[in-house]
Amino acid sequence: MILVTGGAGFIGANFILDWLAVCDEPVVNLDKLTYAGNLENLAALAHDNRHILVEGDIVDRALVDALLARHRPRALVHFAAESHVDRSIHGPGAFIRTNVEGVFTLLEAARAHWSALPRTEKAAFRFHHVSTDEVYGSLAPEAAPFAETHPYAPNSPYSASKAASDHLARAWFHTYGLPVTISNCSNNYGPFHFPEKLIPLVILNALAGKPLPVYGDGLQVRDWLYVSDHCAAIRRILAAGAPGETYNVGGGNEMPNLALVRTICALLDTLKPRADGQPYARQITHVADRPGHDRRYAIDARKIERELGWKPRETFSSGIEKTVRWYLEHEAWVAHVQSGAYREWMTRHYGDAHD
Ligand code: NAD
Ligand code: TYD
Repeated sequence: MILVTGGAGFIGANFILDWLAVCDEPVVNLDKLTYAGNLENLAALAHDNRHILVEGDIVDRALVDALLARHRPRALVHFAAESHVDRSIHGPGAFIRTNVEGVFTLLEAARAHWSALPRTEKAAFRFHHVSTDEVYGSLAPEAAPFAETHPYAPNSPYSASKAASDHLARAWFHTYGLPVTISNCSNNYGPFHFPEKLIPLVILNALAGKPLPVYGDGLQVRDWLYVSDHCAAIRRILAAGAPGETYNVGGGNEMPNLALVRTICALLDTLKPRADGQPYARQITHVADRPGHDRRYAIDARKIERELGWKPRETFSSGIEKTVRWYLEHEAWVAHVQSGAYREWMTRHYGDAHD
């Protein structure tokens, strides 16, 4: 089996759902269920014994030790993090705790577990650390996309905490030989994305008749990847990635925020027109820019394509249409996220059945 951290969040939940759709290998899911952890994302697995939920904190060394001893996973896939840049600006402490101390705890627990494994299990063990392209900082308009060799220059408390965690993961490979792999991925989008992030926020604000807040001039560029493609990349790295290696993962879909918001508005104009027949783009509102806002991210994903044969399957136009349709078709999920009722999901649907 594998141990996943942060599996009730956006990408972790998509990863577990996709994993159990393509294989039967059980997943232990260690998640603290912060505001970003939503067990409704995993509702399809509520009665599936291949998914074992453990509510707990990655900083809790005794808990992590106990899970490794009890389940003896062949791999640990680490998603758990504080992930929202704007929150990191208002309250960086939680980011240092989870993203830095949490990774340290997991690496140390994994090292102790791995060191004591018999030779073949030891050779097969993997610690996969999921990270972000934001660690590289901001790209000039004409600069080449981020390759794995790009120097680190994180600009936000979020990206600085992720950069720190990448350095720890790298050092645990180089110093102790722990078989670590790292992926640095561009902005994800797709089902179960928490609506504090740009794409779901714009879809849901548009439908609610609220302003669509675009920071500053809206010409900041992000490289968007459909979440299932990210999950497939991680599966490839687990299967064939080399310990000590970093793989950059991206969709090759660079786009200014304003163009992205206009694309979503145009899709909604077709799929669910406003009652007054006016375009949703009327709701776009420029607001104050984010402090320290990175201007451009773009990923050079040629290494993972060349070495592991991974390529994104979704184009941006197919992925964004799927995503908008998903939000239109999942009214209950949206309503529970907006009302906060998703936080009661565990007691209602899992009862005491989880660890
Ligand atoms: P998310 O915020 O949606 O989910 C994070 C999950 O981690 C939640 O379920 C939360 O409950 C859990 N968690 C938080 N602190 C914890 C702790 N101390 N112990 C245990 N669980 C804890 O995040 P996401 O967008 O799914 O991102 C997952 C990972 O992917 C993160 O490491 C993030 O840095 C990375 N990443 C995200 C993106 C993106 O576009 N969202 C892009 C590249 C990389
Ligand atoms: P976000 O989804 O927060 O991801 P990240 O900051 O990790 O890239 O934001 C994506 C881009 O959209 C980023 O440039 C900030 C911008 N943005 C807005 O313009 N308005 C918003 O309300 C939000 C949440 C983000």
